[in-house]
Amino acid sequence: MSTVKEILQTMDYGPAPEAKDAVTAWLGKHQSGFRHYIGGEWKSGGKLFDVHNPADGTVIARVAQGSSADVDAAVAAARAAYPAWSKTSGEKRARYLYAIARHVQKRERFLAVLESLDNGKPIRESRDIDVPLVARHFYHHAGWAALLESEFPGMGAVGVCGQIIPWNFPLLMLAWKVAPALAAGNTVVLKPAEYTPLTALALAEICDEVGLPKGVFNIVTGDGATGAAIVNHAYVDKIAFTGSTEVGREIRKATAGSGKKLTLELGGKSPFIVFDDADLDSAVEGVVDAIWFNQGQVCCAGSRLLVQEGGAERFYDKLKRRMETLRVGDPLDKSIDIGAIVAKVQLDRIASLVEKGRQEGAACFQPSAKLPGKGWFFPPTLFTNVEPASTIAQVEIFGPVLAGTTFRTPDEAAALANNSAYGLSASVWSENIDRCLDLAARIKAGVVWINGTNMFDAAAGFGGYRESGFGREGGREGMVEYLAPVKKKGSKEAAKAKLSAEPTASAFTGEPALDRTAKLFIGGKQARPDSGYSYSVLDAKGHSIGQAGLGNRKDIRNAVEAASKATGWTALSGHSRAQVLYFLAENLSARADEFAGRLTAMTGAAKKAARTEVDAAVSRIIHYAAWADKYDGRVHYTKARHVTLAMPEAWGTMAISCPDEAPLLGFISLVIPAIAMGNRVVASPAPLHPLSATDFYQVLETSDVPDGVVNIVTGERDLLAKTLAEHDEVACHWYFGGADGVALVERGSAGNLKATWCESGPRDWTATDNQGESFLRHATQIKNIWVPYGE
Ligand code: NAI
Repeated sequence: MSTVKEILQTMDYGPAPEAKDAVTAWLGKHQSGFRHYIGGEWKSGGKLFDVHNPADGTVIARVAQGSSADVDAAVAAARAAYPAWSKTSGEKRARYLYAIARHVQKRERFLAVLESLDNGKPIRESRDIDVPLVARHFYHHAGWAALLESEFPGMGAVGVCGQIIPWNFPLLMLAWKVAPALAAGNTVVLKPAEYTPLTALALAEICDEVGLPKGVFNIVTGDGATGAAIVNHAYVDKIAFTGSTEVGREIRKATAGSGKKLTLELGGKSPFIVFDDADLDSAVEGVVDAIWFNQGQVCCAGSRLLVQEGGAERFYDKLKRRMETLRVGDPLDKSIDIGAIVAKVQLDRIASLVEKGRQEGAACFQPSAKLPGKGWFFPPTLFTNVEPASTIAQVEIFGPVLAGTTFRTPDEAAALANNSAYGLSASVWSENIDRCLDLAARIKAGVVWINGTNMFDAAAGFGGYRESGFGREGGREGMVEYLAPVKKKGSKEAAKAKLSAEPTASAFTGEPALDRTAKLFIGGKQARPDSGYSYSVLDAKGHSIGQAGLGNRKDIRNAVEAASKATGWTALSGHSRAQVLYFLAENLSARADEFAGRLTAMTGAAKKAARTEVDAAVSRIIHYAAWADKYDGRVHYTKARHVTLAMPEAWGTMAISCPDEAPLLGFISLVIPAIAMGNRVVASPAPLHPLSATDFYQVLETSDVPDGVVNIVTGERDLLAKTLAEHDEVACHWYFGGADGVALVERGSAGNLKATWCESGPRDWTATDNQGESFLRHATQIKNIWVPYGE
């Protein structure tokens, strides 16, 4: 006789299919093919392509392949709708977003079934995670629309936003992008992924139902070519992209110099770190959520398992036992854990990477259960003994495949975690919260979950460090990505600011360096330029007033190396940095006359104007000394019994290419906020008027600024900027110069996908809106750390 316990353990699951009649009927209605949604109307495109159900490979719909003419029409509709929509009151926009949220909730079941049918994800996930989060995002951003004026003073919409989304969370990624864009007053042209366009089209119907003004939200379906047409469109003001790092890089290059605002949410190879004092059973469930959620097709999937050596065998045993209980099968079955892979090509890619893992010598474990006979399925897979440098430990597989490695100490765990070009997320498991928080601070990732994983909420920002992209989606930090400073009409300051002509190469004719040549400043030491050459610095009348070193690639490399080593500065408290900055201000102030004289000599500025510039520079340093210990983060209100800490962190090594106007104040206005936040900088000062910056290193030397925190390389701005933009150790580049330089820096930054802040217009640096929060925001990136509490 079996006991009840035995019966429960041996009982098989019966099928528990979710009804799909409503979705089948809807698809039937569109049998002749779906159209684009442009200007509030359904516009037929030319060619159609097939959309499949990954669970059985059948064609479930035919969708239009958007041409550049379709994209033109959608952008025109969005442009036409923009003036009225951006002027609509925040509260009214909030009502539309709220209505969309309500309608999503009313159709929750329909949308969940459609998503599972189109993407292959288990209905349990689309029903309990994707669709509720979609509604949550529209609600949350309805709130931001209502609060916009009071919470983001001086900011307004950017314009027409081109949004390109991937296939792994089709409706959720749409919500992440559309809700903040519309809340801020932008209009949208969105392209869903070619494998999964259907829920976006269903959402367009909802927009129609709620009476969203025509043209505010437009959809053009199609493949990468359609996406590229949006990216390259002259009248699109911002691109928001989620997808592969490879395409993200192409988009960075394609938009370089176009003036388009850009956010990229790209791939990852996120560490899942288990210490041997962790609650191992919880950590096993964590792994299930980390890598088998959505078949591992998750940008922040915990795909690298790092287990502490002492507990590794025990943990692997538990994990393998748990893997045997995972059920792979029909996504519409409510008791299925793992559904289908989105497309055949993705399945093949996963299979070939797994084969590569075997060839590279890692041990592969897959549970014994059989896969369904048709459709695109892949079993949950665990590799152990994975070499950290091997393919499966480095390449984003985007499938249900986990690569396991062991570590001994927390230091080793941090080093392994950071041994990746990516930096999207991390998950840390230990009952020792001090250790978890220590790791959270050391790991280079935009999101860190402690004793948890894959937690998302509209109130918290999400986005990556390094090659995982830049910009955040969600929360206050995500809103900023859809806002721009409102331009003051005919601003006197703008008219007054005088931009010297972009220096020509002839200005930098090399001459052998003389003894009175101002040296470069690298690693706290004055250094001769590697080239051995200098160039003449001329006064307003064209007479030589001195020589500056002609910096080259080698000098930049040395300066970056010095900056990279000065990590002690980043580790200091804001208070300690503030003290150094106050000292700096004091020492500059003591030499104000000398600096004013230098400015007059270089630019021909009247004595009074020169003195005003020096005084403004002193005030600016004091301003950022004040900020150094006050630009703090937030605690986001996300899930119950969690604190989500949004902490601004320094980039590390920053490049700063300074403007021509206001040679001293321009330099100070950029370098000081960057170092106030803990960055180390390599700055190239105003190329034609570099001497006030080179004089400044004497002030740095006397003010306790540690070696390597500020490095100064004089020379041709764009030549130096190119090397800086292409340098992998530089995490962020600010460029204030000519339009060609902006394009060059943005294009060059595509290599390591560094964040950039580039401007080609002149500024009046004496104006007080050239200081403050926007500079500090650009000098930092936000890390969200999720900490649960309670037993
Ligand atoms: P993908 O990056 O090519 O596609 C994402 C979106 O970008 C789709 O809407 C696509 O049509 C569009 N697109 C493609 N080329 C474009 C271009 N030149 N300009 C503008 N838009 C373009 O990703 P794909 O090919 O579907 O998947 C390949 C790999 O990318 C996956 O195996 C996975 O590793 C990674 N991936 C990562 C995602 C993430 O969320 N991090 C999402 C999707 C894919």
